[in-house]
Amino acid sequence: MTDRLILGIESSCDETGVGIVRLGPDGSMELLADEVASSVEEHARFGGVVPEVASRAHLEAMVPTMRRAVETAGIELRDVHSIAVTAGPGLAGALLVGVSAAKAYAAALGKPLYGVNHLAGHVAADTLQHGPLPKRCLALLVSGGHSQLLLVEGLAEKITEIGSTVDDAAGEAYDKVARLLDLPYPGGPPIDNLAKQGNRCAIAFPRGLTGPRDSKYDFSFSGLKTSVARWVEKQERAGEEIPLADVAASFQEAVADVLTGKAIRACKDFGVDTLVISGGVAANSRLSGLAAERCAEAGLELRVPRPRLCTDNGAMIAALGAHLVAADAKPSSLDLSTTPGLPV
Ligand code: KG4
Ligand code: ZN
Repeated sequence: MTDRLILGIESSCDETGVGIVRLGPDGSMELLADEVASSVEEHARFGGVVPEVASRAHLEAMVPTMRRAVETAGIELRDVHSIAVTAGPGLAGALLVGVSAAKAYAAALGKPLYGVNHLAGHVAADTLQHGPLPKRCLALLVSGGHSQLLLVEGLAEKITEIGSTVDDAAGEAYDKVARLLDLPYPGGPPIDNLAKQGNRCAIAFPRGLTGPRDSKYDFSFSGLKTSVARWVEKQERAGEEIPLADVAASFQEAVADVLTGKAIRACKDFGVDTLVISGGVAANSRLSGLAAERCAEAGLELRVPRPRLCTDNGAMIAALGAHLVAADAKPSSLDLSTTPGLPV
């Protein structure tokens, strides 16, 4: 068997991504192109993603991003073997742009189409950097839209959600706390930077859902965000200055502590020895630092893909498509629809 080229299209939120992966006969994968056009700056003044703005930006960016990817990879579109596209979860209008484009390319080129799950795509991204996953592993997915713990027993076979946030996603909490501290959107990077000069033990912010009766693997970040807001208000009322770096470091510690604590507990409970962390928040320096410390203590292997692969992109969708093709999975039909609330 010869090499097969897999095209991946992502448009579930504010990133238009097209990736191209070369799948070798032995199942090896080579990333040939990973083009992303982001509309994040258009959302900045609203402090969060505006769905209509995102859909329009995808419409404008889809074909140019596809052209750039094909050019970067140095291939002809007709040589593509299969097309994978994010079918959900995500914003309804945004998903529709990617799925419509993928169907059009699949129909025009006469190629198989695979509608795939965005969350599974985030896990697949890691295989582009670190190679195949062990038979069983745990994935902590943390971004602006999701915070999930997944038990992965084969990317093309079985992924089970064992925990998720009951309210805000971790990245959403970063964005909301940044807003109340008058920091720019998206809030993760500025908080991460500020926190480096702060004392992470300065303020004891609550660790959501960590009581003895709380769900073992679920997360809650909305109480933490409220607690930061109350703390800041109290300081302001007292006429005290807000120690921004300490607030950032203490908030960040509360998030990293809960995420790593629950992920490592799940690894032990499910008897797996590898933890993958992906999604935009995986770029957080304290999260990866604390995860590395705790994984080393617990004898677990930690895999965190480079930031470019952690945030939304088409390469991860191409990688997941390649896993499906390698596993001889059945393609989707051309009447594939989007599923904004698609479970993993
Ligand atoms: O995966 P992503 O690019 O898009 C979504 O699917 O949401 O994640 C974006 C999220 C934002 O909420 C952003 O604030 C957060 O990831 N983020 C970070 C960092 N870099 C990005 N959060 C914490 N620390 C960072 N360094
Ligand atoms: Zn995502």
